[in-house]
Amino acid sequence: MTTTVITGIGELVTNDPARREQGGLLGLLPDAAVVVERSRIAWVGPGAEAPDADVRVDAGGRAVIPGFVDSHSHLVFAGDRSAEFEARMTGEPYTAGGIRTTVARTRAATDEQLTSHVARLVAEMRGQGTTTVEIKSGYGLSVHDEARSLAVARQFTDETTFLGAHVVPDGTTPEDYVALVTGPMLAAAAPHARWIDVFCEDGAFDVDEARAILLAGTDSGLRGRLHANQLTYGGGVQLACELGLAAVDHCTFLSGDDVSALESSGTIATLLPGVEFSTRQPYPDARGLIDAGVRVALASDCNPGSCFTSSMALCIALAVREMRMSPAEALHAATAMGAAALDRDDVGVLAPGNAADLVLLDAPSYVHLAYRPGVPLVAGVWQAGRPVVGTPS
Ligand code: NIG
Ligand code: FE
Repeated sequence: MTTTVITGIGELVTNDPARREQGGLLGLLPDAAVVVERSRIAWVGPGAEAPDADVRVDAGGRAVIPGFVDSHSHLVFAGDRSAEFEARMTGEPYTAGGIRTTVARTRAATDEQLTSHVARLVAEMRGQGTTTVEIKSGYGLSVHDEARSLAVARQFTDETTFLGAHVVPDGTTPEDYVALVTGPMLAAAAPHARWIDVFCEDGAFDVDEARAILLAGTDSGLRGRLHANQLTYGGGVQLACELGLAAVDHCTFLSGDDVSALESSGTIATLLPGVEFSTRQPYPDARGLIDAGVRVALASDCNPGSCFTSSMALCIALAVREMRMSPAEALHAATAMGAAALDRDDVGVLAPGNAADLVLLDAPSYVHLAYRPGVPLVAGVWQAGRPVVGTPS
């Protein structure tokens, strides 16, 4: 059996709660080593105590972090909306309606075109340190196109999400469309999906429609997550808390009652600062949420409309600069909390038994992720123990 020891790690971010007393929120370990056996982590500890292994890799004093867990993306689509972005940057507002442009292009694409496009985006993410990604449907909006979108996504991740309720497509009424989503579309989508999601917002679905769709999904064995309070105040966040969903995403416009509901429910607030960057909206109040005891994750929301970045490092930099998260809170939110938002305890934390998903940074400290915005700092990536990006030997 091949084992690999990574030595010379100047700063190891473990996220291991058992290391918090000494290593803080990130469970930091200086001068560390990690042993990988097949797809799992076999050992973590001080470099001086590292056991021998078949293969040795020297990190040369650089930092190693857990692979990013990007718990929110919409990668299955075709077409380009850069003109919409350009118009926004000269004053046009973002609206949910732009989704329909992408629906038309996605329906017209072949399965092969969709698959190769997702492959390109997943490779782009991996090259930037993302080792777990959730992928939603939501640009098909017909029984056939939602099911095939999820079948495409499933080739790349187990974390697939049925988002038939993204917007009501042209040519139908909200009532008829909710009946389709909760009936034949759900039946066709469920075999390819782990999660169900709804865009709960003005111009998309209201709280009652969202509740009916989420409950139909959970009756079919899917778990719920929700887009809420992105563009306006509303009841979406409280619905997510009431239903005990794993995560509610965006959380840009929150009332005091929303914050209290999040704090007492344990539902994770997933913030997507790339969206506010790309739509010129106000950023969510991450500092207020964390200080109130809410669990916060960060994700990219990579999609062609509101935010076309695949960079978790950019999200971390924005979270630190614009939302007043500390660099440690932001990295933790982009790894361990992303995993929690997907109900996963085998990724996002570097501890024995967990997935060997590691990123070697070309930097002495994780702080460089926010300190050097826009700079490609990923020197190596191991995914399930396999070196998948430029790993040194
Ligand atoms: O998460 N909010 C809804 N869905 C996406 C945007 C989709 C689009 O504009 O194409 C989001 O921001
Ligand atoms: Fe989204």
